[in-house]
Amino acid sequence: MCGIVATVGSSQATRILLDGLHRLEYRGYDSAGLAVIGPDGLQLHRKVGRVQELAGDVPEDLPGSIGIAHTRWATHGEVTEDNAHPHLDSSGRIAVVHNGIIENMAPLKARLEAEGVVFRSQTDSEVLVHLIGRIYRDPESPACGDPLAAMRSALRLVRGTWGIAVLFADHPGAIFTARNGSPLVVGLGDGQSYLASDPQALVPYTRRVVFLEDGDVARIDADGVQTTRMDGGAVDSAIETLDDTWGEGDRGDYPHLMLKEIHEQPEALERCLSGRIVPEGGTAKLGGLDLDARELGRISRIGLIGCGTAYYACQVGAELIEKLARVPAKAEIASEFRHRNPVIDPDALFFAVSQSGETADTMGAIREIQLKGGRVMGVVNVVGSSIARACGHGVYIHSGPEMAVASTKAFSNMVAALAVFTLMLARQRTLSAHEGRRYVEQLRAVPDLVRRYLANPGPIDTLVEWVTDPRTRMVLFLGRGGSAPVAAEGALKLMEVAYVPCIAYPAGEMKHGPIALLERDAPVIVIAPRDELRDKTLSNLQECKARGARVAIIHSDGDAIARHADLSIPVPETNPLFSPLLTVLPLQLLAYRTGLALGRDIDRPRNLAKSVTVE
Ligand code: AGP
Repeated sequence: MCGIVATVGSSQATRILLDGLHRLEYRGYDSAGLAVIGPDGLQLHRKVGRVQELAGDVPEDLPGSIGIAHTRWATHGEVTEDNAHPHLDSSGRIAVVHNGIIENMAPLKARLEAEGVVFRSQTDSEVLVHLIGRIYRDPESPACGDPLAAMRSALRLVRGTWGIAVLFADHPGAIFTARNGSPLVVGLGDGQSYLASDPQALVPYTRRVVFLEDGDVARIDADGVQTTRMDGGAVDSAIETLDDTWGEGDRGDYPHLMLKEIHEQPEALERCLSGRIVPEGGTAKLGGLDLDARELGRISRIGLIGCGTAYYACQVGAELIEKLARVPAKAEIASEFRHRNPVIDPDALFFAVSQSGETADTMGAIREIQLKGGRVMGVVNVVGSSIARACGHGVYIHSGPEMAVASTKAFSNMVAALAVFTLMLARQRTLSAHEGRRYVEQLRAVPDLVRRYLANPGPIDTLVEWVTDPRTRMVLFLGRGGSAPVAAEGALKLMEVAYVPCIAYPAGEMKHGPIALLERDAPVIVIAPRDELRDKTLSNLQECKARGARVAIIHSDGDAIARHADLSIPVPETNPLFSPLLTVLPLQLLAYRTGLALGRDIDRPRNLAKSVTVE
């Protein structure tokens, strides 16, 4: 959360900073700000709202070829200009932008206030700049006048997470930075260097990068980066080259990124499957896992960990693995998993599933598994992201850049990647080559089925009318088995994009409570593909109809269950195990079109951010 950009060299800084902020705006968009060092010293500009607002406030020709910038997702303190970054120390000669959370803010702030420091914001980040400033200017301190030493001394007092960029007016040729738990990547250009929260901000300028690690403290100047550790020891950082998956992520001919990304699903799925399916053997291969047949055969259980949409993809994955490969599998919410002191079976395999590869809760779960000697692999979209690097091994889902806050194509590719893994595992355990070939064929057909559905999505607009009907107080989503997480994903999408209150329940569980919410004409959306649970789900939807609810059914094309619907939304039929890849599509479109009808900010819904890098 929050985006950081910085640059130093010979080019005018503000152009690069504003462009970088635009590219990182998906990380937070409550307020934005920048600081540059020009002929008149340190200049600060901050604005509540989007980067656009800030751009309007910064003179186009603002001189200065070194600067830091920030786009904020508020944690401590409301969305005000005072709380926007950068923050200055009391001298006004040191500026800091921060991504992360300072957990011991309260005692540190009290101590600084007792020493006479006057705080101008309610943020935890301001504590950092005052700590650094006081140490830097303290003639008694061995770190006096030394930016890196002052930062190390200050950070030793702090508990929490940080990715920071610091400007010292006394040192107009360098940016100083440190990382602990919040990602930072240095970009190396020709006489120009950059720093950003993620490579998305760097791709127009350079593809040569150095990923900073937790505990790094670094000095960046026009010629490159010198990285040290918190104890002052030097680090020989590896220079990496960003591959083509780091693209522009623009809207193309679509009015919104979300709609574009929904329509990119057929190609994204093809990319995910490409080169991984072995049709003649009825199996699959995932080289990135680096697991041989013996190791695959020894796996005792599988844990799948993620947040939000990624968690629902984990639930679909767990269902697939258990049903097809007959290995116990469980999906877990990362923020719960890491704090419940989980027992880690040494023969278990864990997957950390994440689009961004930066989600703090998922990173925390990885650390917990690794600390206890467990084995965890990434199922990640963003190449080179923190989760991908922390896991070392894993599967890239190859969705291509997903920039809309609401995740769509990443969900599908997470499910597809887990389906590929399931086939590989199942063939090592229970599945015959003959059966395997059938599944392989069905999975390979899915991208075309998705394409076919998106070309003719059915009566979504009628469903939008139900949802936006002034009498509608909430929408109930129901599904069983692999369709229960699809129901939950549909509800999440409609809540986040359209701000419509929703509840998702496994269909059989509805009668144990939520049924009390049903009123005449309340919309109920039932996900009921033709599978072994269809008839049970049908009984549950009858229970809704009996109470006056209006029922929309998302079902396999040609299934007679349509007769029981007030609104029927058919999707092409596939193997029930892969049906989430089809049944989720109408729900994505419902969220998009409802958001549009209600005038919501589709790609940047309120209060949210794309990468959730705080706990
Ligand atoms: C999805 O629409 C959400 N914006 C959110 O739930 C997201 O899936 C979650 O924060 C996890 O993100 P990740 O996949 O980048 O880890």
